[in-house]
Amino acid sequence: MQILQVIASARGAESYSTRLSQGIINKLRAAQPGSTVVVRNLATQPFPHLEEAHLQAYFTPAEGRSPEQQEAVRHSDEAIAQVLAADVLVIGVPFYNFNVPSSLKSWLDHLTRAGLTFRYSATGPEGLIKGKKVYLAVASGGVYSEGPMQPYDFATPYLHWMLGFLGMTDVTVARAEGLKLPELEPTALQKGIDSVAV
Ligand SMILES: Cc1cc2nc3c(=O)[nH]c(=O)nc-3n(C[C@H](O)[C@H](O)[C@H](O)COP(=O)(O)O)c2cc1C
Repeated sequence: MQILQVIASARGAESYSTRLSQGIINKLRAAQPGSTVVVRNLATQPFPHLEEAHLQAYFTPAEGRSPEQQEAVRHSDEAIAQVLAADVLVIGVPFYNFNVPSSLKSWLDHLTRAGLTFRYSATGPEGLIKGKKVYLAVASGGVYSEGPMQPYDFATPYLHWMLGFLGMTDVTVARAEGLKLPELEPTALQKGIDSVAV
């Protein structure tokens, strides 16, 4: 089994979303010894925001692309190849301003390519990245799984929709939440890890 770990926190070893991801990966590897892990760190190897060159390259057939367009499309090709090669994705999601960090949004923008990762058919949109299992390792200062702040979690509904649009519908959410609340912080990470059955 190949696991793709996507890191979106810039906080290195301190990061809760990375530690929660690691806890999930440890469980996956215990269940399936010999599994390999490929790490894509979006803080140290970011995907650029979509610029004109990327968009032009997407809509130019491969054989007609200029050297600049070939370079521009390389990011997207790389993102897609890494995901297609994986059986399981473990995506760390630091909760930023009620949504995902822009680094994660950029990665998804490069992953979303008409004709390659989704297409429109007579019956509507069809995701072309199929057969993947996805774990979201969400870390947040507040509590969003229940209670008054629940409606303001724009990260997990967006990720559910976006990953599903690309064909990845088997998504499990694990949360380390309440990290800024002294009464919840000490147990939040372990609770998140324990919530995942692999
Ligand atoms: C820029 C920024 C924005 C944040 N926005 C929110 C937020 O909207 N809601 C929340 O509950 N926590 C918020 N937090 C707290 C983070 O979710 C929390 O620190 C989490 O541990 C970050 O993930 P990490 O430890 O993997 O870096 C924010 C933190 C930062 C740095």
